[in-house]
Amino acid sequence: MAVIDYPLYPISSSALEMPAPLFCTPGGMLFNGDCLPFLQAMRAETVQCVFADPPFNLGKTYNGYEDKQSEAAYFAWCAAWIGECCRVLAPGGALFIYALPRLAYRFAALLDNQLEFRHWIALTMKGTYPRGNKLYPAHYALLYFTKGTPRVFNHLRTPIPTCRHCGGELKDYGGHRDRLHPDGLNLTDFWEDTSPNRHKKTKARPGVNELKPLIPARAIQIATQPGDIICDPFGGGGSTYQEAEHAHRRWLGCEIGDCAPIQQRMQPHIVPEITPAVAEMLRHVFGR
Ligand SMILES: C[S@@+](CC[C@H](N)C(=O)[O-])C[C@H]1O[C@@H](n2cnc3c(N)ncnc32)[C@H](O)[C@@H]1O
Repeated sequence: MAVIDYPLYPISSSALEMPAPLFCTPGGMLFNGDCLPFLQAMRAETVQCVFADPPFNLGKTYNGYEDKQSEAAYFAWCAAWIGECCRVLAPGGALFIYALPRLAYRFAALLDNQLEFRHWIALTMKGTYPRGNKLYPAHYALLYFTKGTPRVFNHLRTPIPTCRHCGGELKDYGGHRDRLHPDGLNLTDFWEDTSPNRHKKTKARPGVNELKPLIPARAIQIATQPGDIICDPFGGGGSTYQEAEHAHRRWLGCEIGDCAPIQQRMQPHIVPEITPAVAEMLRHVFGR
């Protein structure tokens, strides 16, 4: 087991305020503020899945958030929120963290003490360029860990790949095509259909570094069932919340910056009153 000795995160929980609730949908609630006090306010072992797509400390422009600190400060902060994510995860629950491989191997080492490794899912990344004397970076990592034996593991299938020009199938499956499942191929730990939308002109929400919704959608489908609670502490453009809502899961979200992009995305679902399903979730998770 790896023993990681990062310095303690310097800000005590009492110095940070619990974020304010912003809006509610039939299945979830978004909070606007820092995810650390948000996670710290949660009771232990109350959510079935955490999906986290944190900032990568690359100096990117986020709405209202400074994405550049010293490496030591960044990893100390990551150790703090990762520790909280592990604490709030229910037994058998799943934690997914999306990251660059350079960060993911360090996150995985932190998780190794606390959860069980399931997969390092490689997601192809297009449109990058090689830097200096390094290999061409061609994938992101989606870490998948569970708290003990997974409570839910749903087998997913993907469509049989076809040529986008002629529509013909790309492989012959060694003469065993007739034995393939009619719903497609077993999902592997190598995802080629999830490249992010990079071009500014075609980005749904300019200024937001959002994932293709297929990524959180798959994580949710793999590791949860309807009614389960999914927490995403880094809202961004709200792709996790949208997919959780569509899949009839409950969700708790947090975003430190401008929440307008999330609000815009979730607008069709926003309700004026807390629903019984959300009220029950708040009682269960926050004890109130
Ligand atoms: C990479 S984006 C997440 C994108 C999201 N997965 C999506 O697909 O829309 C990371 C987000 O985390 C937010 N963030 C950074 N630090 C935070 C903190 N301490 N608490 C809550 N949110 C934070 C940033 O403002 C940014 O919107």
